[in-house]
Amino acid sequence: MMTLEINPLDAALGARIKGVHLNSEVSAHDFDLIAEALIDHHVLVFPEQDISEAEQVGFSSNFGKLEIHPSKAHRSSVQPEIYRVANVGEDGTIFPVDSYKARYLTGTRVWHTDSSFRAIPSMGSLLRAVEIPPQGGQTSFCNLHSVYEKLPEKLKGIADHHMAVHSYDYIQTLVFGDKARSFNQHDDLVQQHPLTRSHPVTARRSLYISPHTISKVIGLTETDSRAFLDEIYEFASQDEFVYQHSWSENDVLMWDNRCTMHAVALYDSARYRRVLLRTTIAGDGPVVR
Ligand code: OGA
Ligand code: MN
Repeated sequence: MMTLEINPLDAALGARIKGVHLNSEVSAHDFDLIAEALIDHHVLVFPEQDISEAEQVGFSSNFGKLEIHPSKAHRSSVQPEIYRVANVGEDGTIFPVDSYKARYLTGTRVWHTDSSFRAIPSMGSLLRAVEIPPQGGQTSFCNLHSVYEKLPEKLKGIADHHMAVHSYDYIQTLVFGDKARSFNQHDDLVQQHPLTRSHPVTARRSLYISPHTISKVIGLTETDSRAFLDEIYEFASQDEFVYQHSWSENDVLMWDNRCTMHAVALYDSARYRRVLLRTTIAGDGPVVR
């Protein structure tokens, strides 16, 4: 019998978990330990998980209902709950770098927390590495509890008392500029959330920001909103709050979207293949301050 081993990473967040195969029936006991570790460490790294799409969907479903990603172009044809974070199609060919499908993914290079454009954003995501480039393409995670606790008073004062607009179309505007207006607009995927929140399980407070979806802060002028956001993004992305993951094939990472944000490092997507498969667990309530 395997014993579950949980080792905190030497970083601002994260733990590595060994001794469990996410393909087999994970015992109720191990599942509880994993759920607890997610709350304690915010990001979990499970090495050597050679599992199928169906098994990933199966394991992820233990945590709640799964979301279907808005981009049809990136959905798996086998399992609609799988979002292909990949510069390679299911037929195995690399997308041309200036194609919609390839450029859309460059949006993940900007810090964000998944599906904050929904009224009830995702509680967590799981991402499995199928193919990884020989260099670049690391994923960084930021501990938004620690950021909140160290925020300078001036920024905290604003964050504690304001809401931000999160919009799916804003991602496309960042990536495609004005051309984005000619794509499908998602008027339904725009939401306001407070800039700070308390965690539904622990009640610990955190900043709630998603730089790739926040178009503005409500109640500030356009200029003040931009200046505030730039300042808080710069503060939050300091190394002391961040763990950068260098992927190995078959790593599965799971993270808590309620208190972290993440971003992908640049890689040469014209030359190298990068294929990761994501499942996204729906949240169970709105963002509450
Ligand atoms: C995601 C994402 C991270 C990555 O899957 O939510 O932002 O490493 N991608 O590609
Ligand atoms: Mn993401």
